[in-house]
Amino acid sequence: MDIQKEIIRITSEYFEDNLDYHKLSIASKEYKLLLNKICGRNIDIEKGRDDIGFDNGWALGTFWAALCLDDLIRTRQFIRGINKAIQEKIKKQKSLHILYAGTGPFATLILPIIFRYSKQKIKYTFLEINPLSFEILQGVISKLGLKDYNIKLEREDATKYQIDFNDKPDIIISETMQNALAKEQQVSIFLNLMNQVNEGTIFIPEKIELSIGLKKAGISEEETQIKHYQKEEKIFDLSKEAMFHLNPIESKLNGEILFDKRQTTLDEKRFRGFSQLLILTEIQVYKDEKIGINKSGLTTPKIIKDIPSDLKGSIIINTQYKISAQPELEYIITLPNPR
Ligand SMILES: C[S@@+](CC[C@H](N)C(=O)[O-])C[C@H]1O[C@@H](n2cnc3c(N)ncnc32)[C@H](O)[C@@H]1O
Repeated sequence: MDIQKEIIRITSEYFEDNLDYHKLSIASKEYKLLLNKICGRNIDIEKGRDDIGFDNGWALGTFWAALCLDDLIRTRQFIRGINKAIQEKIKKQKSLHILYAGTGPFATLILPIIFRYSKQKIKYTFLEINPLSFEILQGVISKLGLKDYNIKLEREDATKYQIDFNDKPDIIISETMQNALAKEQQVSIFLNLMNQVNEGTIFIPEKIELSIGLKKAGISEEETQIKHYQKEEKIFDLSKEAMFHLNPIESKLNGEILFDKRQTTLDEKRFRGFSQLLILTEIQVYKDEKIGINKSGLTTPKIIKDIPSDLKGSIIINTQYKISAQPELEYIITLPNPR
């Protein structure tokens, strides 16, 4: 079996413009099976399940990182977004440099793409911090015959990684997030890398937005559809544009980044008929390749408060994104008195 052709065949469904859940689910299972076979190791072990904690968040255990593939829409949209960015860049440049920060054990998001482009045209830098994931990745790369591709593998922390000034990447990929940008290191990774590149570098995802939202009252969990979520106010935005506007002096206190504090006021008219306050996550992977509210585990609405039906006055929500060992959007909610 020509394994490279097999990867192209199995993963071709990700590139189909027409979204067919059934076909996508079959392709995803086949892709996973192939990766597990190439890996040839059981990663459902204690060491594989251990997340690793740092002072700016967690890196997922190898087993969990591999499991991300199962999030169908996430995986599809990222692969399509990366491919679109490459197509755009490659039209204008002779060669490309792609940095993939947090590959997991399989470099899941880039493997469907690597064999579709000439190895002379694209060079890759892969960063992975989890030692077990890194070790498995080395084996996978070798078994896939990728040794003669221009791939630099580095067991490095992407939140501290120093980009070579003379070899800046054209595209930077990282999917190191959970819904509401909690727990993992997406923000720290992007901040570090955004500070070192030129404006022309494409970041995948291009933008992650957090908003305060509301969920309609009287709808059971099974009945809930996207239309039952209402976006109220954007409160945090992780994108190159937003980060370039951070004032590096004002926003740093003792070396720590301080993000803007936001206050959202919802008067009675706005929350009447709604029963929950939410943090909503939306991802623009690249241009029109997006992941909408509740389309993936990464965009599941996070419930932050039940809203009693008898409130009179305004709800005030103070929010601020904080980088710490448990990065998250911190919030303080003040409810008005009941009628
Ligand atoms: C959510 S998993 C995604 C895996 C794979 N890229 C995918 O999308 O299927 C994130 C990966 O990033 C790695 N990671 C997290 N923080 C990192 C950091 N600071 N530097 C390098 N890798 C990191 C984790 O160990 C994990 O393997």
